[in-house]
Amino acid sequence: MDDYNGPIDLIRQHRPDIPITCFHRAALDNAARWFTENFPGKTLYAVKANPAPYIVTGLFHSGIRNFDVASIPEIQLVRELCPEAGMSFMHPVKSRPAIEQAYFDYGIREFAFDSAEELEKIVSCTSGGKDLTLILRLAVPNTYSELPLAGKFGASPEKAIGLLKAARKAGQRLGVSFHVGSQTMKPQAYTTALQLVGGILQSLPRTPVDIIDVGGGFPSIYPDMIPPPLAEYKLAIERGFACLPQPQSCEFWCEPGRALVAESCSVIVKVELRKGDVLYINDGTYGSLFDAGQMGFRFPVRLIRSADDGPGAPLKPFRFYGPTCDSIDYMTGPFFLPKDVKEGDYIEIGQLGAYGNTMRTGFNGFSSTETVGVLAPPLVTMYGDPSNNALHLKKTPQLPNKRTLPHEKPEDSKAQAEKQPQGRAAEHAG
Ligand SMILES: Cc1ncc(COP(=O)(O)O)c(C=O)c1O
Repeated sequence: MDDYNGPIDLIRQHRPDIPITCFHRAALDNAARWFTENFPGKTLYAVKANPAPYIVTGLFHSGIRNFDVASIPEIQLVRELCPEAGMSFMHPVKSRPAIEQAYFDYGIREFAFDSAEELEKIVSCTSGGKDLTLILRLAVPNTYSELPLAGKFGASPEKAIGLLKAARKAGQRLGVSFHVGSQTMKPQAYTTALQLVGGILQSLPRTPVDIIDVGGGFPSIYPDMIPPPLAEYKLAIERGFACLPQPQSCEFWCEPGRALVAESCSVIVKVELRKGDVLYINDGTYGSLFDAGQMGFRFPVRLIRSADDGPGAPLKPFRFYGPTCDSIDYMTGPFFLPKDVKEGDYIEIGQLGAYGNTMRTGFNGFSSTETVGVLAPPLVTMYGDPSNNALHLKKTPQLPNKRTLPHEKPEDSKAQAEKQPQGRAAEHAG
């Protein structure tokens, strides 16, 4: 991987015609260090957030020695890159061959489940369970999450009681995990979830647990989603742990994805055409900007010109179209850029280290991308020097979260947002 001082050097030297991922090494290290120094237990990196080899090895070298894996290819990747790393198979629904392969070929002993059927699969596809760590995924409220994950996985508290008793008998070690939803904007979410865990454990005095895993959900920072400092999440979790009826030997885990890697990559895109307030750029919803297109994320942006055109013009809001022929390849933003932005300009889009490149498809032939290392800090940060943050955190108008296609009337999307029971839409509506 070639290294540059910053995106501007790359642009001036190469004027790239494909989107370029900039890997901000120091940002990855800062995030890893925050978790290893502050989380009161073991940090597992959720590989799904970004499986790029430089991310996986970078985190390992920065002290993250354990990985939350969800598939055999993720297991193979981690084993190949970091043979000494610990792995836990945290997907609550796995195929039988995947369980067998994880257990017999890769020596994995830690498995998540959220139903009696999955528990039976895990026990019968391994050597009977006696050397297993079985981790129940509990359903918890995702009220403060911008990307709620509730619904698909998680046992209800009523079902959890029977499942924990059964897993205590079946395995060697027992754990409880949950996920408060991605990009959780209030530490209170962990307090509520840990209170729920506490209530369940209280009703099971003869079923001690060995692991409490608070999952992912730790937030990153975006122009319209500025969470409280991570220290407040740490405090809520520590207080929650302190109230749990658990044995002295109980281990605490977390499984961050987004918060560990979001700041570590930005993407440089080129403006191919401007039509009024719409910029046609060379990356989009089928590339690294899925969350901008489908989830309405407003990533921080800055204009970079290949030649110095003097002081920038005042900012104005823009929308983006990606390079494919599909009209859902559209990112409503708004993204605030100098009002004279034009064809041939470049834009650095920040906070794309999590769920960015990993979502890239080759649809319509737009698959080319390259990665370079940069010394420059990320556009915004939760960890390093926040002095630049204000520059790129243009607070945007309170728009509905759901993507607004160009043919939709604003009232349509407003009505859509009002139907959303939780998450960003609810916050905006409220
Ligand atoms: C089991 C599990 N753990 C951790 C994560 C990471 O979540 P986040 O990126 O919100 O930290 C996910 C994300 O889907 C997950 O499914």
